[in-house]
Amino acid sequence: MSATEKPIDLRSDTVTKPCDAMLSAMIKAEIGDDQYQDDRETNLLQDEVAQLLGKQNALWLPSGTMANQVALRVATRPGDDVIVSTQCHAVWHETGGSAANSGVQLTDIGENGHFSADQFLAAVKPRNHHIYPPTTMVQIENTHNRCGGRVMAKKQMDQICAYAKQAGIFSHLDGARLWNASHVLDEKPATLAAPFDAVMVSLSKGLGAPGGSILAGSKEFIESATRYRRMFGGAMRQTGYYAAAGRYAIKHNMDRLVDDHANAKQFAQVLAASQMVTIDPETIETNIVVFEIHAEHISAHDLVQAAKRSNVLINALGSNTIRIVTHLDVDRDACTKAADIIVDILKKSSKTALPV
Ligand SMILES: Cc1ncc(COP(=O)(O)O)c(C=O)c1O
Repeated sequence: MSATEKPIDLRSDTVTKPCDAMLSAMIKAEIGDDQYQDDRETNLLQDEVAQLLGKQNALWLPSGTMANQVALRVATRPGDDVIVSTQCHAVWHETGGSAANSGVQLTDIGENGHFSADQFLAAVKPRNHHIYPPTTMVQIENTHNRCGGRVMAKKQMDQICAYAKQAGIFSHLDGARLWNASHVLDEKPATLAAPFDAVMVSLSKGLGAPGGSILAGSKEFIESATRYRRMFGGAMRQTGYYAAAGRYAIKHNMDRLVDDHANAKQFAQVLAASQMVTIDPETIETNIVVFEIHAEHISAHDLVQAAKRSNVLINALGSNTIRIVTHLDVDRDACTKAADIIVDILKKSSKTALPV
């Protein structure tokens, strides 16, 4: 490895850099001040994504975290209960924002990032009760980040949202990677988004834009979200540069997500064949691979450091848990090479005999 060799960066699908064509689209963007709603590129993107998701209106926000937090702020009141999946982004990766910004408690249910309609019903707390915190929102994360990019079936989402609607509970889809789920389920994003009151989608993950997420929902919901976006400090000005990248990404980078899925599966197959980690390649549905290293080999932290020295960047999710994410800046060869390097490190650091 030469010191100047570009690392194989599998930390996240957010690490991608705009290609020349995306940069050129950004430079040509017809920009304006989005606070006066005269940024043409942002207006076009919002309209296009609203249509793509089958919702009345859509709003550009700088990040998926802010979009999730704004949705919460609009649809809940302090003291409310929000039902989410285990290991979800809101619980682990939003720095406690749900409690700090909206004063809600999160009840996480289910397993492997999924929960059933029955589990949801069992967790719902009634309104107007002098003891229970009222459940006013349910969030589904699809695909599920920390649970290895798992996809929740359309029927399951439909059932949960139908029960939520009956109970007057707002349904929010954290669809940071809804595009990936759409490929796996062979359903249009609008079909998957249909039962939800609000949907968040990211442009800065598998699609490769440098920033931006979109929140979509009813006209009233988006009007309220626009106010809270400003309250949260996310009301920006010439957002059209980002919007142009987002429009380019939707047009050019949607279909190729299947390559990322195939590369992730190939990566998992190399690891599984080595028998040095616990992973079932059959469970890899999209572009995220989460695997457990056997404790007798090396800690996740030490593996991250050793891989970095070999020019492979990965993330530890826990003391024995590693996550890698494939994306448009790493091809099949790079993914296979990274998997081989990881297996090699594990073999060299093994303190016990290999299984026969
Ligand atoms: C499922 C999920 N939701 C929300 C987000 C937040 O997006 P952002 O990094 O743009 O804040 C992420 C980011 O990885 C995510 O994986």
